[in-house]
Amino acid sequence: MQRCGILTVSDKGSRGERQDTSGPQLQKQLVAAGPFAISKYAVVADDAAAIATILKEWCDEEALDLILTTGGTGVSPSDLTPEATLPLLDKEIPGISEAMRAASFQQTPHAVLSRGVAGIRRSTLIINLPGSERAARENLATILPGLHHAIYKIKGGSKDCGS
Ligand code: MTE
Repeated sequence: MQRCGILTVSDKGSRGERQDTSGPQLQKQLVAAGPFAISKYAVVADDAAAIATILKEWCDEEALDLILTTGGTGVSPSDLTPEATLPLLDKEIPGISEAMRAASFQQTPHAVLSRGVAGIRRSTLIINLPGSERAARENLATILPGLHHAIYKIKGGSKDCGS
């Protein structure tokens, strides 16, 4: 079972002014794909320091296998999720974000506005997804088939990639 964290980044959500539907959507998709278990879930404001504090705790203390963030990847002044995530990464995995943007561009030209990053901190895979429920669902669907192998390799798995 892969232990996962879902972090919804939203000013309104953190103040209770908007119900988070993207986080629950991601939880549903992961659990349905299995074997993923949701170990941590939080809603945080668009505050880079607050986002980084949670990501560090989930990586360094909880040692989660996977963290999905949703929201704050765009170009509004308040969007800071990539800025909070990138300095925490030991290794970036650009291909994950590239694949999501490329697939999303088939759905909407606005896909290019998501600046989300992905990569590894210690043994945790962190992936930024955009914030709307639809965007979160579509982006996770693109990368879901490759997640198990990614987590396996991050943990040092030596099985041949082709097998
Ligand atoms: N990707 C997909 N697949 N579907 C979408 O509807 N919305 C886009 C983009 N990526 C979208 C998408 C929009 S409108 C924005 S502004 C950016 O993601 C950034 O979203 P965020 O600021 O909520 O993270």
